Parts: sequence; C-alpha cells; structure tokens
Amino acid sequence: MKAHSTPNIAFIKYWGNRDNDLRLPQADSLSMTLNTPTVEIDVDHADTLSVQSFEPDGSPKELGEKHVQRFAKHLELTRHYLNKLGVTDAIPNKASITVRSGIPSGIGLASSAAVFSCLARSYQGLIKDTIELNDEQASVIARLGSGSASRSIFGGFSALVAGEGSEIDSSKSVQIADENHWALHDIVLAPSLQHKKVGSTEGHALAQTSPHFADRIEAIMNRRQQECIDAILAKDFEKFQAVTEEDCMDMHHVMETSTPPLKYLNEVTHRIIADITNLRTSQHLPVLYTMDAGPTVHLVCTEEARSAVVDFAHAQADCTVFETKIGKGAHLIK
Ligand code: DP6
Repeated sequence: MKAHSTPNIAFIKYWGNRDNDLRLPQADSLSMTLNTPTVEIDVDHADTLSVQSFEPDGSPKELGEKHVQRFAKHLELTRHYLNKLGVTDAIPNKASITVRSGIPSGIGLASSAAVFSCLARSYQGLIKDTIELNDEQASVIARLGSGSASRSIFGGFSALVAGEGSEIDSSKSVQIADENHWALHDIVLAPSLQHKKVGSTEGHALAQTSPHFADRIEAIMNRRQQECIDAILAKDFEKFQAVTEEDCMDMHHVMETSTPPLKYLNEVTHRIIADITNLRTSQHLPVLYTMDAGPTVHLVCTEEARSAVVDFAHAQADCTVFETKIGKGAHLIK
C-alpha cells in the first residue's frame, strides 16, 4: 500500500513530552504542511520486518540498527493502538517497508515528519478493509513514530493538540485550515556549515531540565497557540509573525538553557535573521523567520513578498536554498 507525504514547518514548536515513549507532548503545537520535497512509502505484509530506504537519486541508503528499531517500535505501538480500537491483528507484526525519500539530507527539513505521516497513511490503507480510520486516528499513528509527523497527516495548517492523561490516543492532530486558505511560501535557507546536531528525540528528553520550560508550556497553552490560530484564520500577517518569532526564540532559549545545553543556531542563522529583519522593515515585506532543531532558517512569506524573499535567499553566501509552499499533506497513492 503506497502513500506519499511531505514535511511541515512549525510556528508554535513542539518541544518536550509528558511521555517520551508514547510521544505525548507537554504542549500544543501548530504548523503548515509543505508541498515538497516528497517521501513515498510502500508497505506490505511480510514474514520478517524489513526496511529498505532509497536516496533521492535512487541509490540504496544504508539504514543503521537504530533506524530499523524505530520502525519496529512504531509498528509495535501501532498494533497496541489498533488493539485499543478493538481490531486485534488488523496489522501484521511483520511488514516490509520501502521508503523513497526525495528529501536531500542536511537541508534542515524534518524527514521524520514526512516519513512517519507517510507510513501512517500506508498502514491506514493496508487495513482499510478491517477498519476505516479517520484522519485524527491516522494522526495518532503518525505521532507514535514522530510527534511532528502527526501534523503532516493534514494539508494546510494543523495543530497537534497535547490533550491530557497517559492513554496512547490522548493526543492527536486536527486541521485548522486547508491548503486553499492562505497561499504562504516557505523559502528554506540551509547554511552549508551544519553543526553536528543532537536529534529531536534526544532533545525532547532534555527539555524539562531547562528552568524556562514550565513558563514556555504555560505561555503556549494560555495564549500563544490560540493567538497563532487566530492570526492564521484572520490572515493577519503581523500578528502571525510576532507570535511565531516569539515562540521560535523561546524554544531556542529553552534548548540553550537545558542540561546539557543544546545550541542549534549558528552565526549564519543570526546573520540571516538580522538581514531579513532589516529588509522587512525597509520594504514592508510580509515575511517571518523560524528555525527548528538546526541552523536552517525558514522564511515564511505571502505571495506578494515571495520574489523579494527568493532574491534575498539566493544572495546569501554559504547557503543552500529550497523553495516550498503550502501543501496537501499525506495521501494514499491509488
Ligand atoms: C523543533 O517531531 O522531530 O522541529 O517525535 O522525536 O521525531 P520526534 O521529534 P520531532 O520534533 C520536532 C521538533 C521541532 C519543532 C516542531 O516541529 O514542532
């Protein structure tokens, strides 16, 4: 059963879990699903669990034991969840998984979000004669592999709602507005000198060690998530920009004050932020910056600002530029 999916860029960032094993987040998060690059996954019943992965150029990619274990764990948790829904053995405990990723490595686009949203859709398709899962249920399966993947189930703008309690399905994603609501672009600038980074999974486990973590969760749950949703629904770019940049810098503050500290941003990131802020002021451009767990800068802008932002991006030395826009989310391929 084949599906395809894409990454998303978060405006209110997911950072820190109440249960790391089940990836139950501490706070809500919000993102826009991108239209490119695409990941394609084919799953089938099999006698053993096998995962094959191919690079964008079609060459086979060697997957380490840790990666294969992550797929095995995800399948096990998916079976637990389906048991809870009353369909024991709807899905085999062994499967062959073929991943074709069009995501170039090192450009700072979360491939795990695209991969696990895609895999969730594939599993959903594989078991459709036994149980018809809805999108929110598919988002739970995606979340079990990667928290942010839960949001890529949907196109347009979506929120991962933290929920409460310790049940496997106590947190799921919902769509806020579809891909036709607001034609935003994400111009991605990846500094070529990438630091060796600590993966998100390890990072989430450190979030609670920051003295600023509790305040961050409170700010998101009391105000920021709703402010961001309201700004998107009203297409109020100024408000959208203010709350998105505030939340991004707040997450990096938590990261940098964790024990051990996680420093994802570098000199190139800071230079780009300063330059785009100046350009925005002088030309009144609807553009905002945001960074995930790496130095890559995402410049999110309206159609009106796109060409100026693209020109700005291509003029940056030492950066790879990747042009994306709002997308449709994870889908089965017929
Ligand atoms: C900084 O979803 O990548 O990009 O569940 O361990 O795969 P895992 O974490 P992941 O965390 C995303 C972190 C982030 C912010 C975001 O996308 O919301």
